Amino acid sequence: MTTYKVAVLVGSLRKASFTRKAARLLMSLAPENLELEEVDIGQLPMYNQDFDDSGTPPPAWTEFRDKIRNFDAVLFVTPEYNRSVPAVIKNAIDVGSRPYGFNVWDNKPGAVASVSPGMIGGFAANHHLRQSLVFVNVLTMTQPEAYIHSVGKLFNAEGKLSDPDTRAFLTDFMQKFADWIENISQHD
Ligand code: FNR
Repeated sequence: MTTYKVAVLVGSLRKASFTRKAARLLMSLAPENLELEEVDIGQLPMYNQDFDDSGTPPPAWTEFRDKIRNFDAVLFVTPEYNRSVPAVIKNAIDVGSRPYGFNVWDNKPGAVASVSPGMIGGFAANHHLRQSLVFVNVLTMTQPEAYIHSVGKLFNAEGKLSDPDTRAFLTDFMQKFADWIENISQHD
């Protein structure tokens, strides 16, 4: 069995974030051949090309870029802010994509799950994110799509997922993501 290392990027910095809870749930439902690790994106200074042009990138950018390079795949779990992605996740994509010619995302298999307490499940954020991922050449899984709606009702008082249908869906999502990573990695 080949094991694949998957970076998990969470688009919320909030302590009680539903998105982080959903990300941890997805991590717990993944098949054994995925080794998932949450990578902090909250400490990355906002992207400013001057630092790359002068060859003096902030140490946090360099650390992040080096770290992402060592993963085989990336799972993005994002809330929706004003019908798009939160700045923190867009900034992480921008930082990883530069300097020009050193895009750390290039050719990595990826998947997107969006999360919202609302009914639309972060659909707009999910697709705005996919638009950027096309440009940085993350090979993003097309199906199944994951729009996790009504997230406030998903976890019980103990923080556990109460709905068996959602558990089955998210388990299948992670299995299909593992299959996607394997297919792409074998044809690389
Ligand atoms: C939101 N929220 C939100 N929800 C949504 O479904 N669509 C949206 O466009 C927005 N826009 C938005 C903008 C901003 C600035 C904030 C702070 C919030 C509500 C959002 O889904 C809710 O706060 C979630 O709880 C955020 O995710 P975390 O922090 O719980 O992971």
